[in-house]
Amino acid sequence: MSLQFDDLQDIAEAMTVKGKGILAADESNPTCKKRFDSINVESNEQNRNIYRDMLFTTEGMNDFISGVILYDETIRQTTMQGEVPFPDFLSDLGVIPGIKVDAGAKDLAGMDGEKVTEGLDGLDGRLKEYYSLGARFAKWRAVISIGDIEPSTTCISANAHALARYASVCQQNGIVPIVEPEILMDGAHTIEESFIVSEEVLSTVFYELYSQNVLLEGIVLKPNMVLSGYEFSEKATVDQVADMTIQVFKRCVPAAVPGIAFLSGGQSDEDATAHLNAMNKLLGDNSPWNLTFSYGRALQAPALKAWGGKNENIGNAQQAFYKRAKLNSLATMGNYSVDMEL
Ligand code: 13P
Repeated sequence: MSLQFDDLQDIAEAMTVKGKGILAADESNPTCKKRFDSINVESNEQNRNIYRDMLFTTEGMNDFISGVILYDETIRQTTMQGEVPFPDFLSDLGVIPGIKVDAGAKDLAGMDGEKVTEGLDGLDGRLKEYYSLGARFAKWRAVISIGDIEPSTTCISANAHALARYASVCQQNGIVPIVEPEILMDGAHTIEESFIVSEEVLSTVFYELYSQNVLLEGIVLKPNMVLSGYEFSEKATVDQVADMTIQVFKRCVPAAVPGIAFLSGGQSDEDATAHLNAMNKLLGDNSPWNLTFSYGRALQAPALKAWGGKNENIGNAQQAFYKRAKLNSLATMGNYSVDMEL
């Protein structure tokens, strides 16, 4: 059974409704292998199924999670008990199933290590199949790095163009596109450099969305936060991150966009929650957009560790996932505080 929606805006609003956010569980098999390697668990189809089942069947997670991004393998898998297809299981809980549809970031020819995301060929047909399997939103991630001279205008515009092409094909198929231009926070750049690049990238992306007739009311933006590079000597404070991230959105993100759901991008779980909380506090009730999370690592890391590939740890791992989901839910309302971590 699929959830019923009137239109794209209805889906986008449900994905970013106050108090809830999105679980990114769409790690590709190579990325999942990296995560499983960190806990010494073999990344095979069965173990990936058990792991995703553990997350999705966490009692009460639907109080905090509006949607789950699945991977091509995962959307075809079923619950361990009762063999219910994951999209049906999630829909029955009121959680919207989504699907990663990009084919990954590949070398951008002639641009010395910069990347462009591929996957437009055959996208229309794949979306039709995913819709029939229950997906009501999709994700496409563009990857932009900050270096001495990067990013180039060529890299930014190639990625923005592809994001808008993808978004347009999604909307034609009744699927809400998550538009994800991720500026990596690896490197030794300052928060000011991160701000400048974020401003250029977001402005270019919204220009392309406009050029390609994408309905802004029917997208969800999934950006990075504006942070100092992870190798920079002085880490920006929570308030600096909140101020500068909101400032760049005010400049670049039209109020027609219903919601912004952040990626965590390698921040610690606690930082990702604290930053989201500070931004919601700063904006209060007058925000043009709902600000929420679409975290992968920052929602899953404690659960992955607690699980360690062992069935007897599933209960503890689910508790760890529930806790992160709940704290991030509180952060969407500016009601989180660090002492809740204890
Ligand atoms: P992280 O939150 O781990 O960055 O993952 C989110 C995501 O979906 C990246 O595309």
